[in-house]
Amino acid sequence: MCGIIGYSGHRPAVPLLVEGLHRLEYRGYDSSGVAFEQAGRLHVVKAAGKLAALEAKLENNAYLLATSGIGHTRWATHGLPVEKNAHPHLSQDGDIAIIHNGIIENFQEIKDELSARGHTFLSDTDTEVLAHLIGEERKSAPSLCEAFARALRRAHGAYAVVMMGVEEPGVIYAARMAAPLLMGVGVGECFVASDIPAFLPYTREVVFLEDGEVARIEGAKWQVFSLADLSPVKKSVSHVPWDMQAAAKGGYKHFMLKEIMEQPRVITDCLTGRVSEGSDGELSVHLQELDDIPVPARLHIVACGTSYNAGLWGQQLLENVGGIPTDLDIASEFRYRDPILLPGEAVMVISQSGETADTLAALRLAKEKGCRVIGLCNVVGSSIAREADVVLYTQAGPEISVASTKAMCSQMVLLALMALYYGQRRTPAVFDRELLAALHALPEKLSAALPAMQERAGQLALRFASSRSFFYLGRGQCHALALEGALKLKELSYIHAEGYAAGEMKHGPIALIDPQFPTFALALDNALFPKVKSNIQEVLARQGRVIALVQEKNGKVPDLSVEELWVLPAAHPVISCFFALPALQLFSYQMADYLGKDVDQPRNLAKSVTVE
Ligand code: F6R
Repeated sequence: MCGIIGYSGHRPAVPLLVEGLHRLEYRGYDSSGVAFEQAGRLHVVKAAGKLAALEAKLENNAYLLATSGIGHTRWATHGLPVEKNAHPHLSQDGDIAIIHNGIIENFQEIKDELSARGHTFLSDTDTEVLAHLIGEERKSAPSLCEAFARALRRAHGAYAVVMMGVEEPGVIYAARMAAPLLMGVGVGECFVASDIPAFLPYTREVVFLEDGEVARIEGAKWQVFSLADLSPVKKSVSHVPWDMQAAAKGGYKHFMLKEIMEQPRVITDCLTGRVSEGSDGELSVHLQELDDIPVPARLHIVACGTSYNAGLWGQQLLENVGGIPTDLDIASEFRYRDPILLPGEAVMVISQSGETADTLAALRLAKEKGCRVIGLCNVVGSSIAREADVVLYTQAGPEISVASTKAMCSQMVLLALMALYYGQRRTPAVFDRELLAALHALPEKLSAALPAMQERAGQLALRFASSRSFFYLGRGQCHALALEGALKLKELSYIHAEGYAAGEMKHGPIALIDPQFPTFALALDNALFPKVKSNIQEVLARQGRVIALVQEKNGKVPDLSVEELWVLPAAHPVISCFFALPALQLFSYQMADYLGKDVDQPRNLAKSVTVE
C-alpha cells in the first residue's frame, strides 16, 4: 500500500506534491520520491525513510518552476525500503517516469524479456520493469498514451500507476486496476491520487476512476479513456463534503471501522501473486518464499494477542490440509519455558507490527537453538521481518486503529495459503481445490455482505450494551474466533468477556450463566454444528441469553430457539470464518461506539508492544 499523487496546473508542483504526500502519511511509508519536468528533462529526487529525508534533499533546489509532477510514498511489499527501490522509476532512456501502487504479478517474465533486449535495471522493483516496458512500447506506439496502455494491457495484477513523459510537458497519465485511484478537478488544475486527502485543500470535486480506465490531466483539462481501446469514457464529477479527518478515514467515523470494511481488499492483496489460474482453469498456490526451505517436520507457531488467535485458527488447517504437525505457544510463555526444538522443525512467529518484544525474543530463542524461523509479518523492514530466516508478508497495509482487525484477516489468509501450499508439496500432493476456489471467490462475497453485517451489529449492540459480561463460545476453528471476539469486546468497550471452547463450558464456566450474562455462540455451518447446538441448549437451560452466529443452509436458517440469530451467508466451512471475523469485530465496534469509548485508541493499550 503506497501513497500516490500527480499534479498538473499553475502552482509550484514540488512543494504541493510533498504536502500531498504528508497528507497520505497515514497510509504508511518507508521511502518517498518526486519526479517533475524541467528544461526538457525529467528530474527524480527520492529518499529512504520518513518524508523529512526527501524534504531535506529538496531544500535549496530551484525546483519551484515545475508546475506538474508526480510523488509517491512507498509502503514496501517487495524489495527492501531503500532509496533505489523508492519511486518514481524511470524508463531505460530516462524519458518516462512512473509511480505505482500494487503488484505486477508477471514482472519477472517481462523483466527477462527486456533484459534480453539489453535493458538494465537499477532497483528490485516490479515498477521499474513497468517503466521500462512503457519505454519499450513507445518505440513502436504512435503516442505516449498508446505506449502506456499497451504496457498496462500486458501487466497482470493489481495496480494504480501514474506516469509522466518528457515528450508531453505538463501532462500526467494515470490508470487503475484493483487499486485505489481518483482524480481531483480544481480551477485551472487537476490532480490524481490514491486518496482524497492528498488534494483536499485545493478541491473537493472528485472523479472516481474505475478498473480498466486511463485518465489524462493537463492543467484544467481532463479526459478518461478505456484501457482496452482508448475510447473516451464519460465520467461525472462528485462533490465530497468531507473534512481532512473524515477523508483520512475514508469517510468512516473511525479508522477501526474503515479497516474492518477494507478486509475484502486486504484478502485480494494477500492473494495477488500467490494464487494463479492455469490455462485449464485450475488454481494453484505459490509461496516462493518457502520454496527453498524443506517442509518442516513440525511447526511451532508463536505469537501474542490477536496474532496468537490467528495462529490458533491456522493450526488445524496446517495439520489437516498441509499435513504439518503444528504446535502453538503464547510468545511470553514460549520464551521462558525452554522449549524442545528438534532438527528439521521450524518456528513461525506471527506479528502484525513485527516489533512485539515477546515475539521477537521467541524468534531469537528459536534461532539460538538452531531452529529455522519463518516470520508472518505485516510491516516490511520491522525487526521480526529482518531477523526471521524467511518472511511472508501479510499485505494488510498500515493498521492505524490500535485494535487489530484487518491484520488478523490477512494472517488467516496467509495461514490458509500456507496449508494449501504444503498440501501441494505433500507426497502424494493434496489439492484442496474447493477451499482454494472458495478463498479466491471470497473478496467479492464478503464485500457484498459487509454493509448488512454492520447494520445487524448495530442493532445487537443497542440491545446488549448494558451487559457487563459476555461469553464467546466456539469449537474447532471457531474456538479461535471466540477468543478473538472476547478480546475485541473487552479491549474496545471494557466489558468483561471470556472466550471458551464451547465443550469446556460444562467443566466450570457454566456456573456463571444467568440472565445477566449473555453468550455469543459461533454456530456456523460445519461438522461441529450439532455439538455447538447442544452447548447452546446447556446455556439456554440456565436462562442464559444467547446471540447465535449462524449460516443459511439450503435457503433455511437453523432453528436454535435463541434470543437473537445473526445469519451469515452460506460458505465453505473454512471460509465462513472470514465472515464471522468481521461480524465479531463489528459487534465490538458498535458496542464501543454506542458506549462512547475511544474506539481507535482504547485506554491502556499500545499499537506496538515493544516492552515485556
Ligand atoms: C489486539 C491486538 C493485540 C496484538 C498483539 C500482538 O487487538 O492488537 O493483541 O495482536 O499485541 O501484536 P503484533 O501482531 O504486532 O505482534
